[in-house]
Amino acid sequence: MKNIVVLVSGGGTNLQALIDAQKSGKIVNGKITCVISSNPDAYALERAAQNDIETAVIRRKDFSEFDEYDIALTTLLKEKHADLVVLAGFMTILGSKVIAAFENRIINIHPALIPSFCGEGFYGLRVHEAALKKGVKVSGATAHFVNEECDGGPIIIQKAVEVKNGDTPETLQRRIMEQAEWKILPEAVSLFCQDKIKVVNNIAVIGD
Ligand code: GAR
Repeated sequence: MKNIVVLVSGGGTNLQALIDAQKSGKIVNGKITCVISSNPDAYALERAAQNDIETAVIRRKDFSEFDEYDIALTTLLKEKHADLVVLAGFMTILGSKVIAAFENRIINIHPALIPSFCGEGFYGLRVHEAALKKGVKVSGATAHFVNEECDGGPIIIQKAVEVKNGDTPETLQRRIMEQAEWKILPEAVSLFCQDKIKVVNNIAVIGD
């Protein structure tokens, strides 16, 4: 059974999708053992507490140097015996130490079809604002491993979602969450926990 540690910053609807998937047996060979937030007021922490999941808070601003923060987060994840780290709306950039310590063991959910609308500065509603500004007719979500390149790691699962006339960033965000993020994130996590994802030359290959 793999220990899944989920990193959050906000409302935690993706965390909720993981909790619901776990309850209905859709996360095979994995268990959410800890939720770590960058924000002590994140509602995601309530969701964890309601489900008797251990929580912790680590804030970038409590460390004067980025390197110290990077080391502290790496140490915390090791203390929690994380086999898999999931970024579920985690809004702090990860450092090179934590990425190296958990190579191909950190999964992020991004609310667009990578390589569109991704990279530095593309997070939360900004992603959907950019998609609407461009006038794309299809957007979606991507579950991918995290490497040194922001939103550039191996893609595990993608799901397309239609953009509709009159969409606002908020309506598009909600549709992408409902139709894509809340489905593909638990799927990717379950595949990982069953050792069904191999990374070859920076490409993720899903096996049986
Ligand atoms: C989600 O839409 C997630 O894809 C996005 O933030 C939202 C968090 O919502 N993540 C990023 O933009 C990361 N670049 P949640 O807290 O309700 O899961």
